[in-house]
Amino acid sequence: MFGPKSHLTLRHNHLFIEDVDCVSLAEQHGTPLYVTSESRLRENIRAYHRAFPDAEKYFAVKANGSLSLLRIAAQEGMGADIFSPGELSLVRMAGIPRDKILYNGNSKSEMDHEMAILAGVRMSVDSREELEFLAGTAARLGREAEILFRVNPDVSAQTHPKIATGLRSSKFGIPAEQVADTYKRAMDLDGVRPVGLHCHIGSQILDTAPFAEGAAKMMDIAASVAGAGGSIERIDLGGGLGIQYHPDSPAPTPADLASAVLPIFESRCRDQGISPQLILEPGRSIVADSTIMLTKVNVVKKAHLNFAAVDAGFNVLARPMLYDSYHHVLAAGHAEEPEAETYTVVGPICETGDILAKERRLPLLQRGDILAFLDAGAYGFSMASQYNGQPRPAEVLVAGSSTDVIRSREDASSLLAGQRILPRLMF
Ligand code: LLP
Repeated sequence: MFGPKSHLTLRHNHLFIEDVDCVSLAEQHGTPLYVTSESRLRENIRAYHRAFPDAEKYFAVKANGSLSLLRIAAQEGMGADIFSPGELSLVRMAGIPRDKILYNGNSKSEMDHEMAILAGVRMSVDSREELEFLAGTAARLGREAEILFRVNPDVSAQTHPKIATGLRSSKFGIPAEQVADTYKRAMDLDGVRPVGLHCHIGSQILDTAPFAEGAAKMMDIAASVAGAGGSIERIDLGGGLGIQYHPDSPAPTPADLASAVLPIFESRCRDQGISPQLILEPGRSIVADSTIMLTKVNVVKKAHLNFAAVDAGFNVLARPMLYDSYHHVLAAGHAEEPEAETYTVVGPICETGDILAKERRLPLLQRGDILAFLDAGAYGFSMASQYNGQPRPAEVLVAGSSTDVIRSREDASSLLAGQRILPRLMF
């Protein structure tokens, strides 16, 4: 094991999450299984509050939309960054106040706009074109929507190209040089009230410099908006802080992020004579390391490579397949045994690319052993699918020695949900 992980310990050769034995958890609840440490989740949120006492922190619900975890985020004072009416329902059900919700997205339908307007949440407007549609819909409903503008700050975030979002070529946001004009147009329209600016430069960013560059560019844009007569009440710098997935890739903490960004934000606000509310939208750095994914070894096969075939594939944890992501793996029932063999861990899905971990040194494995994939809480369950007729796994929340199922395991009937055989195809 590596890094400071207060919630994961090795006891009597077994991996424990808080005070619960992971092997027993797998026996009791079956596998694949997502398991979250409540204390770690709360600690991660509190670290953000300490680092940014004056900022609002909106949890990026796409990272993990489990209701109990959203409820914990609400209890800990977080707002929410949402991307769909579905996420809007989840966060309202979890008790996140409407004043701390930002509805984002680059492709919203008229119905999406209506839902957000009627729910009374702020929206981030991604284009000049969206602004016109939204204003029309709000005016038709007799409402006024508070809006921020999503800016494309043209910052290179040095992360996997599929999750870099602030580049000029990215689909998100309004080019910096068009923001002031768009803001001005919004001030003239009925149905909308522009209140600020929003950006998000990418995800799993391991260096604070791009955040500092993004903050400085946002302050430049804020100045150009003020020059055009706009008032900036809110500046949302998005999420993106990376975490340490790999023993050799340390990640900055929320405190490091604050040291890089706050001096720029605060001094530029002073110089420009404005005092906007700062907003952040962390997802991964809140929830990733709170959660592990347990999976059982079905077959250990000596072929050209040594394969450990487990019961979770990219249907359960898509990140390695999609982004070549590294998740650290531990043998939960042999946790203190020496590394004895090199295994490639593969899933049960009928695709060669169904590889969860490449050439890992692990203790000797056999059928029935439990492997723990660490740091699986962000974009884990939320990206799981039913591909290959696989029901989605269960989720368990651990607090001390107590364990509760927070999402039950799907079964074959879940695969049939919503489907029917047309009568004319019956005969
Ligand atoms: N705000 C906006 C507007 C976003 O698009 C995102 C993530 C976040 C906040 C949260 O970013 P975070 O703090 O989690 O980095 N599925 C990929 C990550 C996709 C990120 C999408 N947007 C993965 O598994 O790495």
